[in-house]
Amino acid sequence: MTALAYQIRRIRDRSELKAAMDLRYEVFCSEQGVPRREERDGRDNNALHLIAVAGAGDEVLGTCRLVFVGRTVQFSRLAVAVSARRRGIAMALLEAAERETRAGGADRLVLHAQTYALPLYEAAGYATRGSRFVEAGIEHVAMEKLL
Ligand SMILES: CC(C)(COP(=O)(O)OP(=O)(O)OC[C@H]1O[C@@H](n2cnc3c(N)ncnc32)[C@H](O)[C@@H]1OP(=O)(O)O)[C@@H](O)C(=O)NCCC(=O)NCCS
Repeated sequence: MTALAYQIRRIRDRSELKAAMDLRYEVFCSEQGVPRREERDGRDNNALHLIAVAGAGDEVLGTCRLVFVGRTVQFSRLAVAVSARRRGIAMALLEAAERETRAGGADRLVLHAQTYALPLYEAAGYATRGSRFVEAGIEHVAMEKLL
């Protein structure tokens, strides 16, 4: 498999936010069947959005968002374009989220992981908390990482 060049950074403007939301729609709603009203939960205006951008261009290959609640960051909406998967983009977004968490004065990340993706979060140092539950029709488990 050829190397895929990308950079991870915060969104810069409304058009990049729209591109991230379009990718989320494609991944969560079209691919996974999550209802749009659940994907759009009203928290995006209060979130820090990160994107993975291809090479020197502006194609958004991956995204996630962080919501700060005191010293805790709620991490969510991690999505990578089908054509760009298994190239390390999700792991790179998780690493960038940790840097942002520390920079924002927080020291704990929490998330709801789809259970099929547990190996990703475990590799990134997250631990499960509690039992599995169904959210948006998909099995999840709560996870956290203390920095
Ligand atoms: C889950 C998702 C974000 C992973 O993105 P990605 O960029 O392909 O992940 P990475 O390349 O960084 O994977 C790093 C490691 O995580 C694990 N991993 C990634 N995808 C996995 C999968 N589908 N099943 C099991 N483990 C997986 C692997 O250990 C992988 O390392 P490897 O490729 O050397 O085996 C992507 O498949 C996606 O967008 N899925 C649909 C939306 C979704 O489920 N989001 C997560 C909600 S909790």
